[in-house]
Amino acid sequence: MRLAKLGFCHGILMTIFSSPAFAQGDVAEGAEIARESCVECHNVEPDGPFKEHPPSFAAIAVYRSDEQVYGRIMFPPLHAAMPAIGYLLTPDNVEHLVVYIRSLEAR
Ligand code: HEC
Repeated sequence: MRLAKLGFCHGILMTIFSSPAFAQGDVAEGAEIARESCVECHNVEPDGPFKEHPPSFAAIAVYRSDEQVYGRIMFPPLHAAMPAIGYLLTPDNVEHLVVYIRSLEAR
């Protein structure tokens, strides 16, 4: 309940500040996209290990917020081996991915 409420407030705040709202993201769709577009380099499964390079999505879920995950998909750090893959995805699909990755924290 508490989480649902937080998510709701978060959605409103995000809308007000016109940042991406992740409330529309779909976990199942995100998982599908991850297995198509990200699995070449990342472990994208719920039980992915820590201390891996590149990090597994399950590990990222633990130490990154929604906004940080979004930021690193859209704007990978300069000189990182992570491709600027966000530009090849639709905004909806980026949102699905953020929601999928973050959902792995709870597992
Ligand atoms: C060609 C290999 C490659 C592909 C494909 C790839 N990544 Fe990455 N990704 C990396 C590498 C390498 C890093 C670590 C970059 C660094 O050293 O900061 C990374 C980092 C990240 C991070 C930040 C991790 C962190 O906390 O620093 C996120 C989020 C991420 N990738 C998401 C994705 C998603 C989502 C996809 C699929 C749409 C994807 N990546 C596809 C190689 C890849």
